[in-house]
Amino acid sequence: MADEGVTLTWLGHAATLIATPSGKKILIDPWVQGNPACPDDQKNIENLDLMLITHGHFDHMGDAVSIAQQTGCDVICIFEIADYLGKQGVENVTGINIGGTVVWSESIAITMTEAVHSSGITGEDGGIIYGGSAAGFVIRFENHFTLYHAGDTEVFESMRLIGDLYSPDVALLPIGGHFTMGPIKAARALRLIGCGSVIPIHWGTFAALTGTPDELKRAARDIPGLKVVALEPGETVRQRQMV
Ligand code: NI
Ligand code: MN
Repeated sequence: MADEGVTLTWLGHAATLIATPSGKKILIDPWVQGNPACPDDQKNIENLDLMLITHGHFDHMGDAVSIAQQTGCDVICIFEIADYLGKQGVENVTGINIGGTVVWSESIAITMTEAVHSSGITGEDGGIIYGGSAAGFVIRFENHFTLYHAGDTEVFESMRLIGDLYSPDVALLPIGGHFTMGPIKAARALRLIGCGSVIPIHWGTFAALTGTPDELKRAARDIPGLKVVALEPGETVRQRQMV
């Protein structure tokens, strides 16, 4: 097999589909069916090995139960969401917590990181169920390529520590504002993380999310060598295009 490394498809909003070098499929933040940004022909996730969920909001885990049941994938998420999914009949769920690392599929290290955000799950009656803390993930793949998906978050000082501890090659950062940081603070986040490549996410989905990749480029133009990989929903990039 030609070594293409890690391949990433942005499905719009925070939903991110990844193929690992050995061909495993990982979906971060399963929200596709109701996701207005996700192209129609990419809404059906048929083959999946692992699902990661950053937090309980519908725009991040809206399709978690249905996709997990259809594909039989493993799920890694925070303890409280794991408990919720188990009660919905989802199998193969591993609950972890912030700071914990799971080695999945023998060689892929998945670490849950801090995020500054909330995490309520909307129940069937419309009420909010406690979903634990919001989180992000650092994934160190079998070829050592390292990706940081920040989830929904404000910039926070400990992003510096995430950079020091994991040295991510690429960071997926929310830039839309309103529910998360916007482009100016995402540029600040990049300085804290010390990461040379960024994929902007959580923008353009709703009218309230006004931040754009062009604003991020302007705000981050003094960061030497920074690569802003601005994707369209549904677009795929290979590892060499992310560094
Ligand atoms: Ni959220
Ligand atoms: Mn969100």
